Amino acid sequence: MSSSRTPAFEHIKSAGHSETALETFALKLVRYGSLAFTASIFLLVLSSTTSSSLSWFTLHPLAQSLSVLLFSWGIAPLQPPSPSAAAERTRRFETHQSFALAGHAIFLLGSFSIAYNKYLRGAPHFTTWHGLLGIISVGLAFSQVAGGLASTWEKGKLVGGEVKGKKLYKYHRVGGYAFMTLFLFSAHLGGAHSLWATRQEGTMSLVLRVVANWIALPAVWTGLMLRLRPSKMNIF
Ligand code: HEM
Repeated sequence: MSSSRTPAFEHIKSAGHSETALETFALKLVRYGSLAFTASIFLLVLSSTTSSSLSWFTLHPLAQSLSVLLFSWGIAPLQPPSPSAAAERTRRFETHQSFALAGHAIFLLGSFSIAYNKYLRGAPHFTTWHGLLGIISVGLAFSQVAGGLASTWEKGKLVGGEVKGKKLYKYHRVGGYAFMTLFLFSAHLGGAHSLWATRQEGTMSLVLRVVANWIALPAVWTGLMLRLRPSKMNIF
């Protein structure tokens, strides 16, 4: 894959630091796992949608799978190896912000579409583990955006200065991994176990569901976790 198509990861490669073999492998899990998940969900949804079955629901898995890609690509540039040059760190941080904000916008659209679809059909809300954990993920996503922006804007001005900003940023980091765990698990429940998913018939649909939910999603989570720095996770 050319570097122009992978800006989030280009920053890591251009940092001039050698990655460990494990970090390189973990980055591939994040990169290809998220691509495989999104591509499989798109194929699954689009191959089973006809003009008469097109609805607000259609948007939900498409948008949520795209946000899996954007969120995970947005986290990777902040993981090791850290560049020593300040300009490079800023560049990576800006990449993180852009991917995270784009991911949140699409995530909100996908959440709205399923809630609105249920509203139109008069169906009850949040009746499954997927729906319940999904709406908790929406709440966590909001607090992640608020915490991330408040901790970094004007060196923590909104929360009373740089020291408090840095402290809040630590919570943002830990919260980010907690959010991704819940978020990816919610996606797994929707993609593998929802009534819609289990009603999809045919070998191709089964293969796509297995690849997306049992291979690609666990790969993304494992890749992200392998790259986190435990030394940075101390919030106490
Ligand atoms: C992390 C990603 C996802 C989140 C946060 C999420 C969130 C949600 C939420 C909050 C609901 C309940 C809406 C309501 O009751 O008003 C819901 C429903 C639903 N979602 Fe997702 N979703 C995600 C990914 C997916 C994927 C990938 C699929 C399928 C491929 C999917 C399929 C469904 C289905 C079939 C429903 C309706 C049944 C139910 O409420 O469980 N979702 N989702």
